[in-house]
Amino acid sequence: MLVLGVESSCDETSVAIVKDGKVVLSNVINSQIKIHEKFGGVVPEVASRNHVYQVSLVFEKAFTDANVKPEDIDLVAVTMGPGLIGSLLVGVNAAKTFAMMYNKPIIGVHHLAGHIYANAIEHDMKFPCVALLVSGGNTELIYMKDHFQFEILGETLDDAVGEAYDKVARVVGLPYPGGPHVDKLAHLGKDTYNLPRVYLDDNSFNFSFSGIKSAVINLHHNAEQRGEEIDVNNLCASFQAAVTEVLVRKTFKLCKKLDVKNIIVAGGVSANQGLKERFNEENKDGFNICIPSIKYCTDNAAMIAVAGYYQYKNRPKLDDLTLNAYASLELE
Ligand code: KG4
Repeated sequence: MLVLGVESSCDETSVAIVKDGKVVLSNVINSQIKIHEKFGGVVPEVASRNHVYQVSLVFEKAFTDANVKPEDIDLVAVTMGPGLIGSLLVGVNAAKTFAMMYNKPIIGVHHLAGHIYANAIEHDMKFPCVALLVSGGNTELIYMKDHFQFEILGETLDDAVGEAYDKVARVVGLPYPGGPHVDKLAHLGKDTYNLPRVYLDDNSFNFSFSGIKSAVINLHHNAEQRGEEIDVNNLCASFQAAVTEVLVRKTFKLCKKLDVKNIIVAGGVSANQGLKERFNEENKDGFNICIPSIKYCTDNAAMIAVAGYYQYKNRPKLDDLTLNAYASLELE
């Protein structure tokens, strides 16, 4: 079964062709990072316009790379939300146009389901499992009894962890998106600043990252006022140590409570080296931990094609050309 995936929820225009939910024949990603870098974050209107410029070219390249003809596609899967509405609409309309032209079935996919199913490309997803979803807009702990059964058992009450990474990076003068830069510098420093581990020992499975973000901003601000030097490497290391400790310990705690052995880590922040290392270091109970390789961690259409494949197999409800995009969308 050949699935065409389309993703445009934020600042990446991506089209992929994936065979049987596993074999990635093409995964073309046009990133707008360079365009948004100078603004220190994604400018929604600029993002939508660039999706319009890129989408046809990216479609064309996905077919060339895969050496597949449009007639051979069995299903079109497109991100329908959540995300930036103008950006989403470009992908949804491009996917619907393709489906109409070639008379192909179409299915709308939740962006976060895409991140979770990025794991199915390189691993066999085992159930029941707990998914830790960490991205620029989300931080959630999700229980999955089986394919396409999502139960959110914990979430951030304020900032997403990726958002906190980007903010901290900005404060210490690193480029956007800051996560990878903070990760890199964290490996050159030590955990010397005593940053808060919010909700580490409470009974919920929720998170909060606005406190640690403010702590970093205050530390930086106070040092500047006193004319003191901040050790940026140590600050990044301290920030990373604090957030990864909370993420990893809460995930293990939930798994123990539910008696679940399988863990899936997903979303842009799953590319974080420190998070991977911490999961490995603290895995004393032999959990089976899946993390996608970096190219599938951040936004890409292969993950949407794979999620579309499993969504269709597990609850075969197709959409039609009235399919719409939604800025907010529950993961059902
Ligand atoms: O999943 P994603 O590509 O987009 C959505 O939010 O849906 O995630 C982007 C986020 C950004 O906040 C970025 O800074 C973060 O993922 N990120 C990282 C790393 N790579 C990307 N954060 C920490 N460490 C990384 N290595």
